Amino acid sequence: MSLAFLLLVAGHETTANMISLGVLAILRDPGRLRPAMADPDRRPAAVEELLRYFSIADLGTGRVALSDGLVAGTTVRAGEGVLISLLAANHDPAVFPAPGDIDPDRGSQRHVAFGYGPHQCVGQSLARTELEIVYETLLRRVPGLRLAVPEEKVPVKDDAMVYGLYELPVKW
Ligand code: HEM
Repeated sequence: MSLAFLLLVAGHETTANMISLGVLAILRDPGRLRPAMADPDRRPAAVEELLRYFSIADLGTGRVALSDGLVAGTTVRAGEGVLISLLAANHDPAVFPAPGDIDPDRGSQRHVAFGYGPHQCVGQSLARTELEIVYETLLRRVPGLRLAVPEEKVPVKDDAMVYGLYELPVKW
């Protein structure tokens, strides 16, 4: 039961939210993101960049230290719990310069939007494939797609476990 629930929620809510957020990002910056999504050589990197930028599954990444270690000057002792912000890691300017900029050619493969280690997301290959197919197909089949409301009126899920949009009104 628990595994089925996890697969349904982890597998649906995440990808669905990445689709709407990614489309919003593309409609906000069509000059850079549309050509990147249309190009099969650039598309995978553009999808990685959207995953990094939004880091939608930021909550709940907890670990227990198995041995003493030093993290950014702080000692973590064996047995201590650690809560990790994937969003903060993915917006670390030491790793991703100008992290608030969505640069489809950044080459952001080192991001941790799918977590890290043995328990990193089991569905990440499926998620990447789904997103590449959805963005490319949507933009190709609905070339006139655009926002139907001002950007600031798009309701965001600030209050949910997984970040996303409640709705994305569009017209074409
Ligand atoms: C954009 C889409 C997705 C994002 C951003 C995402 C993100 C994550 C993150 C951050 C974790 C925790 C990793 C960790 O603790 O290190 C996770 C775990 C997990 N994800 Fe995803 N996920 C996505 C899509 C999917 C899909 C499509 C599936 C299944 C079809 C899935 C199934 C799971 C499962 C079962 C786990 C638990 C793995 C474990 O604890 O060993 N996820 N995901």
